[in-house]
Amino acid sequence: MSTSLPAWQVLREHAASIRRIHMRDWFAGPPGQARSERLTAEACGLTLDYAKNRITEETLALLFELARQARVCERRDAMFAGEPVNTTERRAALHMALRAHPGDGYRALGVPVEADVSAVLAQMERFAHEVRSGTWTGFDGRAIRDVVNIGIGGSDLGPRMVCRALVQDTEPGPRLHFVANVDGCDLARKLARLDAATTLVIVCSKTFTTLETMANAHTARDWFLRHGATHADLARHFVAVSTNRDAVAAFGIDPANMFPFWDWVGGRFSLWSAVGLSIAVAIGFDRFRQLLDGARAMDRHFASAPPEQNLPMILGLLDVWYRSFLDTRSRCVAPYCEPLELLPAFLQQLEMESNGKSVQLNGAALQAGSAAVVWGTTGTNGQHAYFQMVHQARNWYPWTSLPACNRTATCPATITSCWPTALHRARRCCTGAPPMRCVQAGRLTRRWCRIWCSKGTVPATRCCCSGWMPFTWRLARHVRASDVVQGTLWNINPFDQWGVELGKMLARPIERELDGAPAQPHDASTAALIRRACRARAMAPD
Ligand code: F6P
Repeated sequence: MSTSLPAWQVLREHAASIRRIHMRDWFAGPPGQARSERLTAEACGLTLDYAKNRITEETLALLFELARQARVCERRDAMFAGEPVNTTERRAALHMALRAHPGDGYRALGVPVEADVSAVLAQMERFAHEVRSGTWTGFDGRAIRDVVNIGIGGSDLGPRMVCRALVQDTEPGPRLHFVANVDGCDLARKLARLDAATTLVIVCSKTFTTLETMANAHTARDWFLRHGATHADLARHFVAVSTNRDAVAAFGIDPANMFPFWDWVGGRFSLWSAVGLSIAVAIGFDRFRQLLDGARAMDRHFASAPPEQNLPMILGLLDVWYRSFLDTRSRCVAPYCEPLELLPAFLQQLEMESNGKSVQLNGAALQAGSAAVVWGTTGTNGQHAYFQMVHQARNWYPWTSLPACNRTATCPATITSCWPTALHRARRCCTGAPPMRCVQAGRLTRRWCRIWCSKGTVPATRCCCSGWMPFTWRLARHVRASDVVQGTLWNINPFDQWGVELGKMLARPIERELDGAPAQPHDASTAALIRRACRARAMAPD
């Protein structure tokens, strides 16, 4: 149990002394210079600047000692060796094998996986080429112009984020659309603008039983049939990404048009698998391959770099430090570049579904807080929304900024406009600002009041890179790995999600009741809400 390790106890006492120090004191004079150099790490083109965190050299030494005592490197090695690190489901967590090079030799529970992975990649390459080149046609012989990815959670957030980051406005090939919400408005609005004859649907679901995805897939199928397609035509308009061949066939999709993946790929780690099919279609298979290579570079770094220089290790330790020792309950992620707009949503699932747990591997209750709430939006937008709270509220929240890292032909001002504001925020968050005077409006006009610009206790981590293209995938991989570090330190299984599975099960009886099945015993509040929903449903126009 990590919380009973000697280093955990020492860190607890150490945290009490850190709370009293103001970060401003660490940046004065030559020691400040040394600090910023010492607390910057680089790998695979990513730079992690973590100097403005509430840590000292001693904190770091203790955190690395905690990692050693908790055997983080051993757990990482077991994951890379394809051992059943997902203990509750007795599965490997081997998403690294998806971007392996020939000879990397990954095995899941002892079984080589390279041939299976290569076969699916070849299938994806053929399909992406056919769709992008116009060889794959719809029911009236025209090329596909729009592709709709229907999926939710990991079958949506990863590909949606990467497409948002990398698809250019001038991209050749079809336009990509993502539908996740079971609220029919989402799908209806998107389909309303499309031509069924030139639209293709990717139904993306590991289990092929997820309620939201299957409901949307059935609605889409009806839409094709109402817009000129016959049942036989549907084969040209539906493909599936799944591990469940029987359910795919039962839905009516030819298994030849199914892109498989495996139980050792968790949903939230799956964008590098066939779940990335929509990415390959959107940006072409060669660039999808670069995505795999970028993630592989980070895999190798995570697997081999010493802990003190290991980016995911450092990030994971910092998160545990804040959550478990300084008791921060949330953290803000603010990408200062528009293409990374969806990164916070992607991280929400990644971190909160992985580590939002309170039971340890041995079944005992965890005696510490795990998984902070992740929130945020693009940085400058956030500055005009929630940054007031970041600067001046009583509670403080660590925040990570990701400044824009490229200059594009269409947006040459990106760096000059985003960096100053990101850097200024980080400086103010960390060191604070002197008190200033201001004139209040209205009745207080003549009264001077003193306000604090910023209390200066908010830790800021900055993550940026030297090039744009590989950034997203290395970054995504980087945070993914830091998740595993956190899971090990909390001694929990970051690869299962029984809470969500339970939620899915609990929703089913209510769904049946709304469909007219006899009422089940519920608490009074739930029963009243179900009655209200039934009435609303009866009154809604068809
Ligand atoms: O939300 C729970 C979850 O199982 C996620 O882990 C997964 O990404 C999502 O649902 C979608 O599941 P599926 O791909 O099986 O439809």
